[in-house]
Amino acid sequence: MTTDIVLTGIKPTGKVHLGNYIAAIKPALQIANNSDCTALYFIADYHALTFIQNRDEINDLSYGIAATWLALGLDLDRVIFYRQSDVPEIFELNWILSCLTSKGLMNRAHAYKAIIDNNQLLGMDTDMGVNMGLFTYPILMTADILLFQSDKVPVGKDQIQHVEIARDIVDAFNWNYGDTFKLPNYIVDENTYVIPGLNGRKMSKSYSNTIPLFESADDLKKLINKIKTDSIPPNQPKDPDTSNVFLLYKEFATPSQVQVLRDRYQEGISWGEAKQELFQVMNNFLEEPRKKYYELMASPETIDSILSEGAKKAKALAAPLLENVKTKIGRYK
Ligand code: ADP
Ligand code: TRP
Repeated sequence: MTTDIVLTGIKPTGKVHLGNYIAAIKPALQIANNSDCTALYFIADYHALTFIQNRDEINDLSYGIAATWLALGLDLDRVIFYRQSDVPEIFELNWILSCLTSKGLMNRAHAYKAIIDNNQLLGMDTDMGVNMGLFTYPILMTADILLFQSDKVPVGKDQIQHVEIARDIVDAFNWNYGDTFKLPNYIVDENTYVIPGLNGRKMSKSYSNTIPLFESADDLKKLINKIKTDSIPPNQPKDPDTSNVFLLYKEFATPSQVQVLRDRYQEGISWGEAKQELFQVMNNFLEEPRKKYYELMASPETIDSILSEGAKKAKALAAPLLENVKTKIGRYK
């Protein structure tokens, strides 16, 4: 029996926040720890390059993402963990796939379309602010996925279209050269919901309303105190199920703690107290990973060596497929 290949990438475009952790990292760690699969998780640094063209920034963010996964318990015996740019085979496949992908398919990709729609609305040049990396972003993502014959790709809802594009590219290649690539499937966790940010809107680095995962305990407390609540005074019952403080609490507390807080909401806990409870459970959970995170960030050579080990494994895994593809396109006699 062959085991499924599960692959996902995270772009280093910002400090990891609670929304990223709850909706993307935590479920991916659960898949790797609980199921019989070959898991490949990587830092999509060349995807980030389409947005971030500042040397120090992209460098710091890449180490930050790597340290985050490691600090949260990524098991290097179960997951091949690498930096995208350490595996140039991806970019070789990217070019080959580019030549089999119609421009029209890219015109329909949502990130590009959103920019040109906005430019048109503002009466600007249609392609203002669009670099070719951004335009062909879904092809690079397809190469990430196909190079390892991935079966399952855990992603957020916004990435479903990209996996569908990958399937279209598989069809185009296989139709022309015969059966070569497997069709990948996305996994979207239907139970994950949008994690609200400090102001109640979707938590996102684009809205500057995030709670970064590894703030100091003091800063974490200050941020939690900023979470927007309604004006129901202390001693009046509050609805836990519409409270963002409670929603976050559930992610970090045990079921019995959740029940206790639920009861205290009905008894009229003050928002200040509820936030204090949230801080306690979050800080408890994050204390150890935070320590590990800062240790790793102080030792980039440790991260480099872990990632280069991962890249070696990834390259070995990819080599036969890439040779097969090159044979099919006519690179060898
Ligand atoms: P951001 O919105 O901060 O730019 P990204 O787009 O880089 O975050 O998201 C990385 C991953 O985290 C994606 O899988 C995305 O779906 C998930 N994610 C980000 N923010 C949230 C949120 N507020 N709620 C749920 N999932 C989120
Ligand atoms: N495009 C994804 C994002 O923006 C990141 C990513 C790059 C990815 N390559 C991937 C995700 C391959 C899954 C599989 O979040």
